[in-house]
Amino acid sequence: MINSALTISVVLCCCLAVARGQVRAFDKITFSNVGFAGTFQPVSRFRNIGDADRCTCEVGERQWFSGNNAPLADHVSVHFRGPLRLSQFAYYTTGQYVIGDDGTDSWTRRAYYGASSQVSDNVTFMGNVGDNSSCLGRALDYVSYDGLTKAAGSTLLRSDNYISSDEEYAIFSNVSCPNSGLGRGCGVYRDGIPAYYGFDGETKMFLFEFEMPRETQTNSSSFSYYDLPAIWLLNDNIPRTSQYPSNANCSCWASGCGEFDIFEVMNGTQRDNFYSTFHTFQGIEDLGTGIQSYGYIPRDTQNTMRGGVVFDSDGNVATFLSNSTQFGANISVSDISSLLADFSTSQSYSSALASISGTAPTTTSRSSGFALTEKQGGLWYYLFTLCTAIAHIFVI
Ligand SMILES: *[C@@H]1O[C@H](CO)[C@@H](O)[C@H](O)[C@H]1NC(C)=O
Ligand SMILES: *[C@@H]1O[C@H](CO)[C@@H](O)[C@H](O)[C@H]1NC(C)=O
Ligand SMILES: *[C@@H]1O[C@H](CO)[C@@H](O)[C@H](O)[C@H]1NC(C)=O
Ligand SMILES: *[C@@H]1O[C@H](CO)[C@@H](O)[C@H](O)[C@H]1NC(C)=O
Ligand SMILES: *[C@@H]1O[C@H](CO)[C@@H](O)[C@H](O)[C@H]1NC(C)=O
Ligand SMILES: *[C@@H]1O[C@H](CO)[C@@H](O)[C@H](O)[C@H]1NC(C)=O
Ligand SMILES: *[C@@H]1O[C@H](CO)[C@@H](O)[C@H](O)[C@H]1NC(C)=O
Ligand SMILES: *[C@@H]1O[C@H](CO)[C@@H](O)[C@H](O)[C@H]1NC(C)=O
Repeated sequence: MINSALTISVVLCCCLAVARGQVRAFDKITFSNVGFAGTFQPVSRFRNIGDADRCTCEVGERQWFSGNNAPLADHVSVHFRGPLRLSQFAYYTTGQYVIGDDGTDSWTRRAYYGASSQVSDNVTFMGNVGDNSSCLGRALDYVSYDGLTKAAGSTLLRSDNYISSDEEYAIFSNVSCPNSGLGRGCGVYRDGIPAYYGFDGETKMFLFEFEMPRETQTNSSSFSYYDLPAIWLLNDNIPRTSQYPSNANCSCWASGCGEFDIFEVMNGTQRDNFYSTFHTFQGIEDLGTGIQSYGYIPRDTQNTMRGGVVFDSDGNVATFLSNSTQFGANISVSDISSLLADFSTSQSYSSALASISGTAPTTTSRSSGFALTEKQGGLWYYLFTLCTAIAHIFVI
């Protein structure tokens, strides 16, 4: 009796806390029930991309995705915005891993960049540095050792690779795409770009060692993201077509092919707080706001930070910062588990994503995908799961 009364009052308190917008700092943020059956619309054709007045894009039939972590189980490119200095980047995969369970397979490093050692495996540094177009913006191309200017071929970032506010680059794998084409490995992509796959897998992990120091330039209206650094993942079709289109048809982003923000500073008022956000249609309609973590991870502007994101085989996604993060060629399951268990429950924040009751067809016929973009459980379901998730933390 006492226990259940306690739970109810904690749930109520927590809902009040949500309503009043009180947020707390955590070292780890987890999402559960990640992944659903849904669709997105791929770009099928670019038209008149050099003509400012007639530039437009066409989209193809809706494509289905489903399963744990979908649509982020697909290939993703890794994006960086300053102020930022990247010391290490690594991508790992394993057969089967569920956070909290003892698996058997170790995690294997499949891509790596080390700034001071100038060592790399399976990475291509790219940015929006190619030809400009009114509806697509600038084309993706190789970036030089500064991460910012165009290079003739794949180039490693130099050891001191600081980029400032508004400046961005991305990392892809070194696996080349087949020719552009609807239904082909990399879909339809912009003519003339060097095209590489991002990093795939339902069960995957990205680790980072980085600094995000305070911006030293003075703020002004010429900045879009003044002192708002971020590290995030995009469905790799997005940057190969257009990362910042003026026409929503020019990338699959708006139809929900997938973005996950790992560490993102959202605004100047909270510029030392990292939020994690899914920009997918898993129970929401406002893709721009997305499904944001309620708590945040503090940004350390003075020191190098280490951490990353784990997508497990059961639809759990954890973002974390920990000085214990290691970047070896292989990481044992017990090391990953102890890294993720290192945080006490009061240092973690957890929320469940809404359950979506769509089913992908077995054929590739035109789908009734639009229905899936509607809220299936409704806002109350989402709020409720959010609140019970927080309640669990405090009750334990
Ligand atoms: C987007 O594509 C759809 C279908 O091809 C088309 O009906 C619509 O007009 C396009 N929208 C824009 C803004 O180009
Ligand atoms: C891609 O990276 C891997 C791992 O470093 C390497 O073995 C392979 O030769 C690279 N492939 C290309 C085309 O550079
Ligand atoms: C690209 O072109 C658009 C309009 O055509 C313009 O608004 C934008 O500033 C240009 N961007 C760059 C980086 O030149
Ligand atoms: C490089 O990354 C790609 C994309 O995830 C992967 O398919 C490939 O196996 C990786 N290469 C190596 C050598 O691990
Ligand atoms: C800053 O971002 C956080 C997280 O999204 C949000 O809760 C807060 O309301 C925002 N503050 C302002 C002033 O926009
Ligand atoms: C920078 O200026 C913009 C307005 O141009 C403002 O919205 C933002 O909060 C400022 N950032 C900081 C950190 O003061
Ligand atoms: C991580 O290490 C830095 C020193 O490099 C230290 O200042 C910081 O407090 C540590 N962070 C945590 C969370 O322990
Ligand atoms: C990492 O594990 C793979 C297979 O899991 C193995 O082939 C490789 O030798 C290991 N590498 C190291 C450095 O232990």
